[in-house]
Amino acid sequence: MKLTHDSIERNVGLLIILIVLVISVGGLLEIVPQFFQKSTTTPVEGLKPYDPVRLSGRDIYIREGCYNCHSQMIRPFRAETERYGHYSVAGEFVYDHPFQWGSKRTGPDLHRVGGRYSDEWHRAHLINPRDVVPESNMPAYAFLDKTAVNASVIGAKMSALRRVGVPYSDAEIAGASKLLEGKTELEVLIAYLQGMGIELKGAK
Ligand code: HEC
Repeated sequence: MKLTHDSIERNVGLLIILIVLVISVGGLLEIVPQFFQKSTTTPVEGLKPYDPVRLSGRDIYIREGCYNCHSQMIRPFRAETERYGHYSVAGEFVYDHPFQWGSKRTGPDLHRVGGRYSDEWHRAHLINPRDVVPESNMPAYAFLDKTAVNASVIGAKMSALRRVGVPYSDAEIAGASKLLEGKTELEVLIAYLQGMGIELKGAK
């Protein structure tokens, strides 16, 4: 069979295969270079891997599904940068596995929430949002204040992250669980929030 345009268009199976092939090549050409680009793989200045306390807080954030209502990605639009601060850049997320960009904002974007409020504010807000923001429809997370952090898994988590490129040292991994002793889930979650997006906070 001679492969003409006519014969391809009359053969649905072949047409599908060729379309998939063409789109794959185009897609790969767009996506693959990103993995090697400096601007997407180099951490921004001052960015450090999450310490064990913040890393545990991040896991609580993921477990509780905070990302269902909060994005962590400020787009480069004036309305967003005036409200939240400097737009997010790829180099801020190189230690995020998985990233928490999110796709829905029932609540505000949280990428630059670090340092915006005091620890006490976050504590009151997470225990009962209505106490500080009367019109809030965010759920209360008072139970986090009564739950101790599970410190036994932190070493394994850090080793796993090291495998995907986060530069934790053996000593950091070995000493991690000690840093979590006596901490509640609420405390580590607040530590995570307070460190969010602070590297580019003052940037213009
Ligand atoms: C059902 C949606 C929803 C969920 C789930 C949710 N939030 Fe919220 N959040 C909101 C809304 C709405 C606001 C704005 C009103 C307020 O401040 O309470 C908010 C506000 C906030 C703020 C203040 C942000 C600012 O800039 O003023 C923080 C911090 C926050 N949420 C953290 C969290 C964390 C951490 C979790 C998970 C434990 C979480 N939220 C889960 C809806 C949600």
